[in-house]
Amino acid sequence: MSTWTLAYDSFIPEQEGLREALTSTGNGYFCTRGACEWADAGAVHYPGTYMHGGFNRATTLMAGRPVVNEDFVNFPNWLPLRLSIGGDEPLSLSNAELLDYRHEYDIRHALVRRTLRLRDRQGRETTIASRRFVSMAEQHLAALEWTITAENWSGPVEVLSALDGRVENRGVARYGDLVSRHLNRVDEATCGTDCISLLVQTRQSRIYVAEAARTHVYGEHEVVQVDRKNLELQGYIQEVLAFEVEEKCPVRVEKMVSFFSSRDNAISEPLINAHEAVRRFGTFAETLDRHEYAWDQLWARADVEIPKDEHVQRLVRFHICHLLQVCSPFTTDMDAGVPARGLNGEAYRGHVFWDELYIYPFITFRLPDVTRELLMYRYRRLRKARQAALDHGYKGAMYPWQSGSDGSEETQVVHLNPKSGRWDPDLSHNQRHVNAAIFYNIWEYFQSTNDLEFLWDHGAEMMLEIARFWASITHFNEERGRYEIHGIMGPDEFHETVYGSNKHGLPNNAYTNVMVAWISQIAQKVLDLLPEGRRDALCGTIGLGEDEIAKWREMSTKMFVPIHDDGVISQFEGYEDLEDLDWEAYRSKYDDIHRMDRILKAEGDTPDKYKVAKQADTLMLWYLFSDAKVARLLETLGYQRFPDMERKNIDYYEHRTSHGSTLSLIVHADLEAGLDPETSWDRFVTALESDVGDIQGGTTKEGIHMGVMAGTIDLLQRGYLGVDISGDALCFNPKPIDKLDGLKLPMQFRQAHLEVELRDGKLTVTALPGGIRRSLKIGYKDEMCEIKAGESRTFTL
Ligand code: BGC
Repeated sequence: MSTWTLAYDSFIPEQEGLREALTSTGNGYFCTRGACEWADAGAVHYPGTYMHGGFNRATTLMAGRPVVNEDFVNFPNWLPLRLSIGGDEPLSLSNAELLDYRHEYDIRHALVRRTLRLRDRQGRETTIASRRFVSMAEQHLAALEWTITAENWSGPVEVLSALDGRVENRGVARYGDLVSRHLNRVDEATCGTDCISLLVQTRQSRIYVAEAARTHVYGEHEVVQVDRKNLELQGYIQEVLAFEVEEKCPVRVEKMVSFFSSRDNAISEPLINAHEAVRRFGTFAETLDRHEYAWDQLWARADVEIPKDEHVQRLVRFHICHLLQVCSPFTTDMDAGVPARGLNGEAYRGHVFWDELYIYPFITFRLPDVTRELLMYRYRRLRKARQAALDHGYKGAMYPWQSGSDGSEETQVVHLNPKSGRWDPDLSHNQRHVNAAIFYNIWEYFQSTNDLEFLWDHGAEMMLEIARFWASITHFNEERGRYEIHGIMGPDEFHETVYGSNKHGLPNNAYTNVMVAWISQIAQKVLDLLPEGRRDALCGTIGLGEDEIAKWREMSTKMFVPIHDDGVISQFEGYEDLEDLDWEAYRSKYDDIHRMDRILKAEGDTPDKYKVAKQADTLMLWYLFSDAKVARLLETLGYQRFPDMERKNIDYYEHRTSHGSTLSLIVHADLEAGLDPETSWDRFVTALESDVGDIQGGTTKEGIHMGVMAGTIDLLQRGYLGVDISGDALCFNPKPIDKLDGLKLPMQFRQAHLEVELRDGKLTVTALPGGIRRSLKIGYKDEMCEIKAGESRTFTL
């Protein structure tokens, strides 16, 4: 099997949901699960189509109490194609014997293939070979092709081609009690003699979505004449095409589909544009050609070659493919953030969390325009973030933990614990650290692109407002002479309250406090980067006073960080006094202890009582900053530098973390990269396999995990090649790992297009012709040099 293919050779009903998510096809605008065309949603199959920004709110009454959720809407299913032979009921896996089956995914072009050979009850054998894609060349196009071969029969057939808007959000069993209907039908229509169309509207957010389909049948060389019959129901339209099939003479059915929404730019009205587009689309082969070309261009900017390990190579490409399906050049038009679970499932409702922290580095070094626009999603919601800060009694801007349509806090207030069947309070909105992540992301984008315009016009405003928020949530502890933050949660979501008290949130989460010290430093730098006029204008507009800037100066040297005597940083103040968990006891009692929070709560206990973390929290500091930088930050705060602090902290938290989030594996793999390469590689491979192997207790079928997919590829770049930006230099510090030999990837850094290759103990950095005007600074360990377009530099490891 090539490193560009993922394939399954048998049909396993229990696996189908997972495979549908893994083999989705999308273009950074909309995306469709790899579900088969002949089945409706049910226990086995779940066709789903999602679009960036496709949110709708609905209120569910739970025990008489209204609970509002903003969902990621499953839009009309454009897939349905069914074949019936000689007037019999349409062929399906339940009325025919499956003789051969292959479900294949072409990673290079996000193309889904299925081939089935079926024997029906009359003994007729039929092969159906299906191919489909959502076009990376034409934003509004999806295409589906069936090649039908009558193996041992001839006769009349009917092909049913439909658009189904009666779909609901039923993809996550845990959300089963919540309102799942989000669409109202508006119109079902035909256009011309060979097209059908459907218009729906989301029930609360009033987004219109139109789909139109043109279905044609082709023999070897000619268009096959068919009789067409239409049927329109509420929210559903179908066409039945009747024609004759001859034994061993394949016929091809092409269903070309257009998808438009009222959120699109440059349209008149979705249905008009859907009609117009579907008539204009070329054939399947023509559009596939253009789609493949567009993907090839993307791969030229984003492929990562890692030739020494085929398995790793395949999964790395697979992750890149999924990343590009969610974040492509089309996304720049979408007012979109990155949904934590991509565009192929309903888990986490398409919401945008802090996961962008793991996702942007790979994108920014390849498609910086895409990151810029993803950051604009936050800028457009600055008003809401300001409002939220104000409502909570703070200054500046406080972004929500879960963000959706308009930037309101979308975190659920109750959360179903599948272990107990109980709805528990959900306090995770207290994860204010998302504001540190947004600040960091803007700064990192600026570091890699030097996009001063973005910083001046948008970035600085967000950063300064976030810095103000942090300054206003801190309070000064006179006794300690330090600034503190209480009542928040760190990335480890297991700890929600101080054990034994009802106080929500924790005091002095170390990760947050150090980030706030860093933010307070950088915010001052940002002010210096603004031209004088802009600085005055911006400070005037947002009302930023000298007293606030003076407070940042203080905070950057006086944030409190709880540190044990031996140099272990306490996850939060008081963590050190919690009980150690008897991990062995739980391991022997439960098959899977990733979600220790659910286990403990189901047992009537609470994770608040124990030293047990879902994911890396304190260790995030070393993920975001080098060891030297962490030490400098702590020293600036007046804390002593302990020997081997990074190693000590890894060892301490490693034994107290259940890795209930795959993000945790990324952080641990990254930290170990320079310290224990073998352990790091093991973790990297586990993270790579986490979605294809569905190690998170069956959650991948509800949507892939964008953070871990992007994080693994970024590990190769920042973790293993040691890519870091220092001043205006792009620096490398490769780790000694055999498997990396041959690693090759393209990068973009401040208008320079680079090719980076690690081979035979040497690192070569080539600046491709064009791009940079002047020279570019490259760092290798302690060496610094300059490189011009068309030149290469080789460093011996
Ligand atoms: C993780 C969060 C993450 C969220 C969305 C949760 O399981 O704990 O850190 O932001 O998933 O991916």
